[in-house]
Amino acid sequence: MGSTIIGCGKCLPALEVENDELKALVDTNDEWISTRTGIKSRRVAVDETNSDLAEVAARQALGWIDGGHAERRLDPSEIDLIICATITPDVVSPSEAGLLRRRLGLSNAIAFDLNAACSGFVYGLAMAESMMAAAAPSVAGAAGRNPVRRALVVGAERLTRLTDWSDRNTCVLFGDGAGAAVLEWSDERPGILSSFIANEDDEANALTCAAAYEAPQPFDARGISLDAAAAGDPGLARIDEELAIGEAVADGKPRQVLRMNGPKVFKFASEAMTAAIRAALDRANLSLDDVACIVPHQANERIIKYAAKKLGCPLDLFQLSIAHTGNSSAASVPMALADAYESGRIQRGDKVVLVAFGGGFTSGAVVYEA
Ligand code: UT7
Repeated sequence: MGSTIIGCGKCLPALEVENDELKALVDTNDEWISTRTGIKSRRVAVDETNSDLAEVAARQALGWIDGGHAERRLDPSEIDLIICATITPDVVSPSEAGLLRRRLGLSNAIAFDLNAACSGFVYGLAMAESMMAAAAPSVAGAAGRNPVRRALVVGAERLTRLTDWSDRNTCVLFGDGAGAAVLEWSDERPGILSSFIANEDDEANALTCAAAYEAPQPFDARGISLDAAAAGDPGLARIDEELAIGEAVADGKPRQVLRMNGPKVFKFASEAMTAAIRAALDRANLSLDDVACIVPHQANERIIKYAAKKLGCPLDLFQLSIAHTGNSSAASVPMALADAYESGRIQRGDKVVLVAFGGGFTSGAVVYEA
């Protein structure tokens, strides 16, 4: 008994940008990018919105269109829950999940977004599984909860809209895309066997992105003040200080972009990935020998190689999809999962580990039986 993945899909935007093309923007080259990261090209959403990408991935996962992997075609009325993991929703409200609910006609679904940066899809699976398990008919108190028998979990990002294209430390890394999975509660199949999610403080502000809300606020501490609207948001300076970006913003650098101390994040990521895999396998009472495929967050091929070495398992246990996607944050794990199904490397009954880490810091892993 458990929540089983019965469908998945992915969507990449049309424009593919090769490493060497970025030489027009920053001092970089294909050799540096491909040897340091494993990335050869990334996709950039120009015409596509985040929800356009998410919608196509979801339609595949629901078995409505070709592409992806779907055990059967679902009826819109069957989906009870939509979780969309994203840090780049098209709008603040409705949520990205709410937009998808409307576009897909999933009128029975509860819908909300989840921000756990690159770990968002793994958090979303863990969250959906918990809601499904708590509402399972055999569980005491289930009648008092929303019944959730099927969930659509999506990771969708348009990271290239948050990228500082003058910063070679970050702009070569990111790409856009969306991936989706459908979970179904099954009385027969075990499905998700364990999950492990964790947070630790990013105390050095190694990976940040400040939001900017643009509506002018005509108030100062005493009440209405039309001058205050023109003066801007006094809270921003404190947020800039909290994220340690005050100096950069004062220098005219953009506020709402991803900033990263690569080596610091690399260190966190390498440790967090192996720890999450081990913890989730322990909780499932399994060892790496039982695992057919690990689908990791695609941030840097070197991080995945490090994990393979540290865990003492072959690199080919890991799904590698980074070469032509770059790092697409919450979309990266579900897109790589769709690739793994497409290439036939996940078969019914296989034990699979999904693992991610990201800003926050967040990290997590889910183990399931396909
Ligand atoms: O999904 C969110 C999580 N993010 C991550 O997991 C990313 C984790 N970090 C990384 O993947 C790596 O740290 C990077 C790929 C970001 C950077 O690789 P690195 O091996 O840690 O390089 P570095 O930052 O230490 O930079 C080495 C050199 C520097 O030059 P100097 O100071 O040694 O002269 C950089 O200025 O490489 C230079 N450099 C570049 N050169 C050409 C940095 N970016 C570039 C570039 N092209 N794009």
